[in-house]
Amino acid sequence: MTDQTINEGLENVIVAETRRSYIDGDAGELVIAGYPLAELAEHATFEETVFLLWNDRLPTAEELASFRADLAAYRDLSDATLDLLRAAAADDADPMDALRMGVAAATLGHETDGPEDEARLLVAQLPTIVAAYWRLRNGNEPVAPDGDLSHAANYLYMLTGEKPTDAETRGLETYLNSVVDHGLNASTFSGRAIVSTETDLVSAVTGAVGALKGPLHGGAPGPVLDMLLDIHNSGDAAGYVEDKLDEGERIMGFGHRVYNVRDPRAAVLSSAAESFYESGGERAFFETAKTVETTTTDLLSERRPDLSLATNVEFYTAVLLHGIGIPSELFTTTFAIARVGGWTAHCLEQLDDNRIIRPRSAYVGGENREWQPVEER
Ligand code: COA
Repeated sequence: MTDQTINEGLENVIVAETRRSYIDGDAGELVIAGYPLAELAEHATFEETVFLLWNDRLPTAEELASFRADLAAYRDLSDATLDLLRAAAADDADPMDALRMGVAAATLGHETDGPEDEARLLVAQLPTIVAAYWRLRNGNEPVAPDGDLSHAANYLYMLTGEKPTDAETRGLETYLNSVVDHGLNASTFSGRAIVSTETDLVSAVTGAVGALKGPLHGGAPGPVLDMLLDIHNSGDAAGYVEDKLDEGERIMGFGHRVYNVRDPRAAVLSSAAESFYESGGERAFFETAKTVETTTTDLLSERRPDLSLATNVEFYTAVLLHGIGIPSELFTTTFAIARVGGWTAHCLEQLDDNRIIRPRSAYVGGENREWQPVEER
């Protein structure tokens, strides 16, 4: 008799070894390929982090230059992809749906040579797809990428048509590095399962985008921003939070399935947001966020001393991305622009030592049924 134990949601089931990232939920630690997140957030460009995830080491100056050139070569969208995005814009598609369509079409007009090359194409294309779609949906023509700008700066440039400030680029880069990988979350696992059939990475990442789109995965920073704007206007953090808790609602941006303490990404993003707002953003908005964090943490621990509910990644994501000028409708697509680094890294790791991912299910359906002709049903 084979083991019939069911682990719903695969909770606590280990299905792969990985060198990509390590999470310690009790200590509140996130390690990316051996480097504590804070270390990368302070020093790394997004290109360096992606190279690190793919190769398990940092690039030399020469490798970094060559990687930047590879990304620049793949950044333009083909006319066919642009036509597709125009059709999506005419239909007023949700940005994540448009991204899914654009990713699925990424090979149109671009030849790739094996999984590593597909990974480069995907990382390069996502910001261009999102920015082009956003402009088209707002009645503007897409802005072509600028080969002299970094990956993060290009995204901001293609969104607005204006070169971003260093502070904006650095803020976005810290965000991208903070959320690039996070163990076997649902979208990363989906990507690994798809590529384990030895299909291509474009198919795997298309599936991963679909998984990220679900509200249980990529969706909280928009509501966090709404809450913070509301409290910023009223000036009454405690009143807002108490009313929500009295109504039995959850406070967005607090609590996490894996972390029992403050999410380490919240710490990194909070410092990044503070530096950003000090260098020119609306400092008072950042102060509101800090007040909401302390007030909510205090109220939650008063009401639920049995739980440890601290700020999660979404809270300061909302603060930072809003400061940089990314519209909240693009928060999840911006998350995808970061996470594609992790998706592709996991796909390459899966292919390195592949075994098709093929779990079993416990059958609980009917037995010994007899066929009935259609006219008798
Ligand atoms: N505000 C108020 N109460 C919260 C809460 C929050 N943000 N998060 C969890 N709780 C409470 C729940 O109401 C529940 O109470 P109960 O025991 O009386 O039913 C208890 O904590 C456990 O919640 P549960 O949903 O089982 O925990 P989880 O580990 O599955 O939850 C989240 C993780 C992230 C889904 C949850 O904390 C949440 O919904 N947070 C708000 C949404 C959010 O910020 N999501 C982004 C995640 S990165």
